[in-house]
Amino acid sequence: SLDHCKIINLPKISDPRGNLTFIEGGNHIPFDIQRVYYLYDVPGGAERGGHAHKNLHQLIIAMSGSFDVVLDDGGQKKRYHLNRSYQGLYVCSMIWRELDNFSSGSVCMVLASNKYDEDDYYRNYSEFLLAKGIDQ
Ligand code: TYD
Repeated sequence: SLDHCKIINLPKISDPRGNLTFIEGGNHIPFDIQRVYYLYDVPGGAERGGHAHKNLHQLIIAMSGSFDVVLDDGGQKKRYHLNRSYQGLYVCSMIWRELDNFSSGSVCMVLASNKYDEDDYYRNYSEFLLAKGIDQ
């Protein structure tokens, strides 16, 4: 549920030469990383996401710039504004997500617990609610 999703503060090595952040699978985040993907060159006003995952866990990081992530467990919704390279939003499975409000030049990096599998997606909101046992 939404209560399992949270902002994770990652290690940050502050340095006048530039800051450094690192992430170890299974250590700083509650899964091992099987895949990394990123969104970039996102035009103003664009929306991404619009789906849920059956089993996948993810960590979403604003590597540059900012954007919003709206999480929805079928009961309640929560909007997060991501704009720090040392913070990640942990999203567990069975959460509908929408990404919007991308600043120009923003980069959204996602660490994922599994390889890409279209069968792991709910791309239809009604189907997602049905799977959660929520009456419509
Ligand atoms: P999708 O997950 O819908 O994008 P987003 O949630 O970021 O808006 O994926 C968009 C397309 O890219 C879709 O055709 C599947 C493909 N894709 C891959 O082939 N591999 C991947 O790792 C991801 C995330 C997407």
